[in-house]
Amino acid sequence: MASRILVVDDDQSFRFLLEEALKKEGYEVKLASNGEEALSIYAKEHFDVITLDIKMPGMDGFEVLSRMKQINPEQLVVIITAYGAQKIAVEAIKKGAFDYFTKPFDVDELRMIIRRAFECNRLYQENKALRKKLDQQMGYKEIIGNSGKMLEVLEIIKKVTDTDITVLIQGESGTGKELAARAIHYNSSRKDHPFVKINCAAIPEGVLESELFGHEKGAFTDASLQKIGRFEAADKGTIFLDEIGDMSLSTQAKVLRVIQEREFERVGSNKPISVNVRIIAATNKDLIRCVKDGEFREDLYYRINVVSIQLPALRQRREDIPLLFEYFMNKFNHQLHKTIKHIALEAMELLMKYKWPGNVRELENVLQRAIVLSEKDIINKADLPFYIQCLDTDIKVDTEAVDFTKPLLDTVKEVIDNVEKQIILKALNRTNWSRTETAQLLKISRKSLFNKMKQYGLLKEEEE
Ligand SMILES: Nc1ncnc2c1ncn2[C@@H]1O[C@H](COP(=O)(O)OP(=O)(O)OP(=O)(O)O)[C@@H](O)[C@H]1O
Ligand SMILES: [Mg+2]
Repeated sequence: MASRILVVDDDQSFRFLLEEALKKEGYEVKLASNGEEALSIYAKEHFDVITLDIKMPGMDGFEVLSRMKQINPEQLVVIITAYGAQKIAVEAIKKGAFDYFTKPFDVDELRMIIRRAFECNRLYQENKALRKKLDQQMGYKEIIGNSGKMLEVLEIIKKVTDTDITVLIQGESGTGKELAARAIHYNSSRKDHPFVKINCAAIPEGVLESELFGHEKGAFTDASLQKIGRFEAADKGTIFLDEIGDMSLSTQAKVLRVIQEREFERVGSNKPISVNVRIIAATNKDLIRCVKDGEFREDLYYRINVVSIQLPALRQRREDIPLLFEYFMNKFNHQLHKTIKHIALEAMELLMKYKWPGNVRELENVLQRAIVLSEKDIINKADLPFYIQCLDTDIKVDTEAVDFTKPLLDTVKEVIDNVEKQIILKALNRTNWSRTETAQLLKISRKSLFNKMKQYGLLKEEEE
């Protein structure tokens, strides 16, 4: 479909000149001879670009421009002014016109301006689509959970979203701390500005300060260029200080100052820089404990813990597992081009029973793997990892099925081996498959545990 342009001008010969030039370029052109006519056409039809004369009898171009912008703030309008009337053009641009050209017009110039307007429109639409996608990805609805505990969490998240309150998000690994932080940012009025994440545990102590605050050229041996820190990069947006419990005491002092004064200096400079950032911090450590142990500053703790969000472990909200299953099934079906529709009851029972030490992240990984492995449209017990499949083994000695063709000793050994295997499995499940703890629990050495696991086929494939 050809792109559409509405030409608004009271000068008939100029209108036709413009129409001809634009049609040659392949555009579909419609004409209006005054402001009122332009607006009545505009109310009914869509145009990619409007070329608009400013000086017209009756309603002038400024008025038309502002009415069109009221209807569609994104409308691209190119102003036509008399030669030498730059001031008017500037005024119109301030009021939202995209560009201007002067009468008498130069065909090449017109062509260029219109093309630029379309290019700009295309980029704008793309950007809007991308942003919409991103916003959707980061919406609250990405936080899956219908349990009382999650609804409480969502309630707090929504309450703090459109404030500048510093938030501390706590929870075990994989409970969705980063997801919550992103949801807060992308639903807040800061969403068009950066969300900057920094993992305080992953960056070596010496580098963290310059990462956070930036440095001047020559501040230290390796600093050959000036560097902007994450706090500066997050200006007008949100900074997410992940694993804040792992930050050294000296860096903590500097962060405290940013929180109190919204001001800091780059390393190697004494010029204060002020920023407008919202701070969200997260940790899976027990910060109160760290404060007691002298590893975390008490004053910083109170500064970041204005509102605290405690994400529940998955095992504390097992009722959300079916919902999470649905969500990840759809997500991975889409990503992996699969068409899984259900999960077998016994497989779901195992998911409900398992302790999920790695929380939602672990569930996500387990389901991704199951969806890859499944050859039908259903996930079966056999598609789950071995350590989850083994959860429901109960110790049973089945004497009904005794095989009398073998000597007694052999039969007894078989039964005992089977019982031993099941006891070891029980112990492994109780300790989340920690071999040290299992060996302790069974009062055998790690070495003999290893040998028995090998005998019963309980090792991971790569160890065998
Ligand atoms: N409530 C939830 N709904 C949907 N997906 C979730 C939920 N919670 C976590 N996830 C998913 O689980 C994975 C881990 O989440 P995230 O990275 O936010 O956890 P985390 O608490 O920051 O973990 P860590 O402490 O290990 O950094 C992500 O893929 C995330 O999308
Ligand atoms: Mg995280």
